[in-house]
Amino acid sequence: MKKRVLSGIQPSGSLHIGNYFGMIKRMIEYQESSDLFLFVANLHSLTTLTDKEKMKKLTLDAAIDMLALGINPDKCYFWVQSDVPETAELTWILSCLTPMGLMERAHSFKDKIAKGVQANLGLFNYPVLMTADILINQADFVPVGKDQKQHLEMARDIAIKFNNEFGKTFTIPEPDIPKEIAVIPGTDGQKMSKSYGNTIPIFAPDNVIKKAVMRIVTDSKSVDEAKEPKGNTIYELYKLFTSKPESDKMAEDFKKGKIGYGDAKKKLLKVIIETFKPFKEKREHLANHPKKVETILAKGAKKVREVSHQTMQKVREATGLKY
Ligand code: ADP
Ligand code: TRP
Repeated sequence: MKKRVLSGIQPSGSLHIGNYFGMIKRMIEYQESSDLFLFVANLHSLTTLTDKEKMKKLTLDAAIDMLALGINPDKCYFWVQSDVPETAELTWILSCLTPMGLMERAHSFKDKIAKGVQANLGLFNYPVLMTADILINQADFVPVGKDQKQHLEMARDIAIKFNNEFGKTFTIPEPDIPKEIAVIPGTDGQKMSKSYGNTIPIFAPDNVIKKAVMRIVTDSKSVDEAKEPKGNTIYELYKLFTSKPESDKMAEDFKKGKIGYGDAKKKLLKVIIETFKPFKEKREHLANHPKKVETILAKGAKKVREVSHQTMQKVREATGLKY
């Protein structure tokens, strides 16, 4: 039987290279070999987003982004989270056997509070909602970046606890976080993230992408000085876009003092723009046909609800909620 691979993306604005290599590109590749489940996590966004029009727009935008990048709704399950309300039901059921101590250790919650985000119960419960997303579809693998690792460990703990308490009901999910793309660096060398303002966006106009690439922080070595490619953000990003001989050539040139940072940035910019050009065109087309996208999402929700209904029936029976 094909393995089930599942991931979600919060509708929170413009996608960046970290999202693409950390999660989306891999999901698109998995479409061919696995049963793929991908959804727009709008219930997760509700923990911090309370503007109705913005929520609607960002949700549709996120769906358009995924479709433009190569998600094929005929080959996978592709839907918006709020179209499967059973996920919220399962969140409650799982909350009732999740120890407070487990939740209190969540880094992402602690980080958000430290940054001054106002705490609400939804934000605290976020990892349980994420667990419900995964378990309701009986996922085997969850491709994410390293920042989500702890959430995956919590999902496993909760699934094991449920199975022990109520009998085997859920597949225990495995995180899928390959070392090479666990943390894609941003323009300042830290993890690329919207919240750090260090992103290189995918769908922005070329001049905006150019500005971001030119902002990549380097040391001040001149063109002919030998430079270490490893850990150098330009080279680390270039490697993601090019074949091994191409990236090896850049590494050699850096080591031998045959290339300066300015020229290397130009090379990087060129491959970024070339890589995303066809996706940008597709995105524009979809953005001009929102009804088409809405139809795709409605069909996707119907398709995935067959899976979630089956799981929920098992859950209701296992817990005695079905009397
Ligand atoms: P951001 O940190 O910009 O808010 P999200 O949290 O929305 O990004 O991440 C969406 C997906 O992309 C997640 O699976 C996350 O693990 C992955 N991801 C985001 N940034 C990176 C990165 N710099 N390196 C690897 N994966 C990433
Ligand atoms: N929390 C994830 C993020 O911010 C998005 C997400 C929600 C998710 N539910 C999920 C990812 C289930 C994987 C599986 O990126």
